[in-house]
Amino acid sequence: MDSFSLGTHTVGRVGFGAMQLPGPGVFGPPRDHEQAIAVLRRAVELGINHIDTAQFYGPNVANELIREALHPYPADLALVSKVGGKRDDQANWLPAQQPDELRADIEQNLTTLRTDRLAAVNLRVFGGHDPSAPAEVDRELFDRQLTAMIKARDEGLIDGIGLSSVTVDHLRIALDRTEIACVQNAYNLVDRTSQPVLDLCIEHDIAFVPFFPLGSGFAADNPVLGHPAVVREATKFGRTPAQIALAWTLSVAPNVLLIPGTSSVAHLEENIEVRDITLDDDVKTELDDAA
Ligand SMILES: NC(=O)c1ccc[n+]([C@@H]2O[C@H](COP(=O)([O-])OP(=O)(O)OC[C@H]3O[C@@H](n4cnc5c(N)ncnc54)[C@H](OP(=O)(O)O)[C@@H]3O)[C@@H](O)[C@H]2O)c1
Repeated sequence: MDSFSLGTHTVGRVGFGAMQLPGPGVFGPPRDHEQAIAVLRRAVELGINHIDTAQFYGPNVANELIREALHPYPADLALVSKVGGKRDDQANWLPAQQPDELRADIEQNLTTLRTDRLAAVNLRVFGGHDPSAPAEVDRELFDRQLTAMIKARDEGLIDGIGLSSVTVDHLRIALDRTEIACVQNAYNLVDRTSQPVLDLCIEHDIAFVPFFPLGSGFAADNPVLGHPAVVREATKFGRTPAQIALAWTLSVAPNVLLIPGTSSVAHLEENIEVRDITLDDDVKTELDDAA
């Protein structure tokens, strides 16, 4: 299957994540402005119609680059953002979890991206010790957050509500109240702690959009691209480790949508080729067992 529904939108299974476009540490302007613009334009040229972003990437930088490169947007382009965090002057990542902050962040995204509505916005839950791992449910706050997200959707600011960095409990509570368009949790070949969340998404036909599919840009020793099984299969098939890792992620389930992040046109072109790669059963089994 080449596409899947993301709420009311249908998107190709290989999209693009804009987090690598700002400067080092996802802070400040890009190292190479023209290259960042070229990556975005090439993504659309290659048929990508799902771009993931956040106002706090930069902050403002990723959204401003997207607007500069792509506005007016192609009709089929699904722009998806996330709210729930902010940055300070020292580049720290801080929570901004109160409902009024979520609302202000949605409105800020619309302004920066110069659009009337977004295909979906993820409520990014922060709260645990590890910022990339889901925190336990704060029921009182989560209910108020959902109310704010439902209001934004009902007022037409966003087409769909997404959830990010959530547990199975979050997703069940949210589904009792409303439709969920997508879930975005960390997930890759070596980190499958969100498998139960993915399984629940499969059960409900909800798009699961893994972040860090390539092991992230933060890790000094990339645990995915340097994994021996990934390197071995890449060598065997004349593919790159990134292509093998992404092909494995796509093979996990039809509702998995990729948003690999890159600041390089060459890497983007390499990553998009994964649309044409099918892993044989024995290769998939070997990679399944790799974690
Ligand atoms: N919801 C959340 O909390 C959350 C958290 C993190 C990320 N995200 C979203 O998920 C997207 C993906 O995650 P991510 O960008 O953090 O990590 P990622 O996609 O796992 O990895 C990005 C890293 O891989 C490198 N890379 C990309 N393509 C490559 C290739 N073909 N060969 C070798 N290296 C390659 C990039 O460097 P180059 O720039 O040099 O290519 C960058 O260092 C983000 O862009 C963002 O939109 C969401």
